[in-house]
Amino acid sequence: MMILGVESSCDETAAAVVADGRKIYSSVVASQVETHHIYGGVVPELASRMHLEAIVPVVEKALAEAETTAKQIDAVAATRGPGLVGALLVGFSFAKAYAYVLKKPWVGINHLEAHLYSVFLDNSAPPRFPFVALLASGGHTNLYRVNGHLQAELLGQTRDDAAGEAYDKVTKLLGLGYPGGAVIDRLAVKGDPNAIQFPRPYLDKNGFDFSFSGLKSAVARQVRENPDPSPRQIADIAAGFQAAVVDVLTHKLLHAAKTCHCREMALVGGVAANRGLNARLTKSARRDGLGLHIPPVSLCGDNAAMIAGLGYHYCRAGQYGALDSDVYSRTRF
Ligand code: KG4
Ligand code: ZN
Repeated sequence: MMILGVESSCDETAAAVVADGRKIYSSVVASQVETHHIYGGVVPELASRMHLEAIVPVVEKALAEAETTAKQIDAVAATRGPGLVGALLVGFSFAKAYAYVLKKPWVGINHLEAHLYSVFLDNSAPPRFPFVALLASGGHTNLYRVNGHLQAELLGQTRDDAAGEAYDKVTKLLGLGYPGGAVIDRLAVKGDPNAIQFPRPYLDKNGFDFSFSGLKSAVARQVRENPDPSPRQIADIAAGFQAAVVDVLTHKLLHAAKTCHCREMALVGGVAANRGLNARLTKSARRDGLGLHIPPVSLCGDNAAMIAGLGYHYCRAGQYGALDSDVYSRTRF
């Protein structure tokens, strides 16, 4: 079963063709990061306009790269939410209209469930249910117990900033542009993680909720006290900040695995591309005899392959979308 996936929840216009929920035939991502970069964050109105310009060529490219035609597609899956309303509406409305004209079924997909699905794509040894998963992105830091493709149980989430958002804000404080994760990740290896002791915001150490705004304020304080840091000091701030984030995320994910009696863990979302976090989790998982699944970098950030992949399971379950359904901006679980 060939599914065309469409994603436009934030600042990436993406389309993909995936067979039977597993094999990626094409995955095209048109990033708007260069446009939003100068504003230090995503400008929603600009994002919507750019999705409008990109959606048709991106879908055509995905079909061409998969060497398939619209008629050969069995169903269309599109992100329904959560995300920026204007941005979501472009991909979602396009997908509904496209499926309607082609007389094919379509499904609306939850973007967060789709991130959880990313570990199943092009993977001959995917996790077995149940497993615990940490979704760390620009908008979310959520911990789940995943019982099935359509059954994710939310264990905890951030009470304020998301992990990726904290990365982006710290990068901005240090005058290093937007988005921030990859920049801090690169700088962190050059600095001393113990030069500055940043707080570890565990909240309740046995609970599953997160909080990153205090950590961000601690970095802001450092910058205020030393407004003209040397490259060495900037690297130390990056290393100290990253060490704190990695400590908290690793502790919570391992704690969730133990509490839920799961032998396997997954790390998904944009922050899953972080090399420091990846290395630390790999080490901890090996020490504790737990399986760890992290998608390749191309599937960590927003993409449409994860939308098409999960769409296949909704189709198989007969859970198709209604033509009068609408997008939703807020997290629904
Ligand atoms: O999943 P994603 O592409 O979009 C959302 O759904 O939010 O995640 C984007 C986030 C950004 O905040 C970005 O700074 C962060 O992922 N990110 C990283 C890295 N690469 C991207 N954070 C830490 N380390 C990285 N290497
Ligand atoms: Zn995302």
